[in-house]
Amino acid sequence: MSNQNIAILWGSETGTAQGLAENTEIQMTKLGLQAHAIDMSDIKLEGLADYGVLLVITSTWGDGDPPSNAMDLLGELQAKSFDLSGCRFSVCALGDTAYYQFCKCGKDFDEALEKRGATRLYPMQECDIDYDAPFEQWRQGVIQELSKEPTPSV
Ligand SMILES: Cc1cc2nc3c(=O)[nH]c(=O)nc-3n(C[C@H](O)[C@H](O)[C@H](O)COP(=O)(O)O)c2cc1C
Repeated sequence: MSNQNIAILWGSETGTAQGLAENTEIQMTKLGLQAHAIDMSDIKLEGLADYGVLLVITSTWGDGDPPSNAMDLLGELQAKSFDLSGCRFSVCALGDTAYYQFCKCGKDFDEALEKRGATRLYPMQECDIDYDAPFEQWRQGVIQELSKEPTPSV
């Protein structure tokens, strides 16, 4: 059985992605999933391999930049060769189409995780400022994928 330990990695400048991640942890826990919302600045690249499922919820800041708490992890993922082939992942990117570099940070995570060998569990979701519906679609899609497998009894 694959590792169903779920990291909900959030990158957030003003709290939106953080709130969605924490809420997702609560919802998934209620469903019996082993989910942990994690501030990206509290985890290193090597730590990602402890989780079988990596869910990234991140905004984009500045001019296509990662939020400050996501900068180091994204940099490590892009620069270091590290095997994440034991992980599955999905990215929910928050952004604003008023910006030229729409959802750039989420796109960068999606690309970097794939490059490190992780398997895409569910397609990346890009969210504009009205993020409620697309975010919920992504979350339910991810939950549906995860529920296709039996959860571990521990
Ligand atoms: C100063 C500033 C810069 C931003 N830059 C971008 C950007 O380059 N691309 C994008 O898609 N969204 C951009 N956004 C929109 C944010 O990503 C969006 O509002 C997001 O929901 C914020 O989430 P957070 O509170 O988790 O940081 C920017 C917003 C602000 C205020």
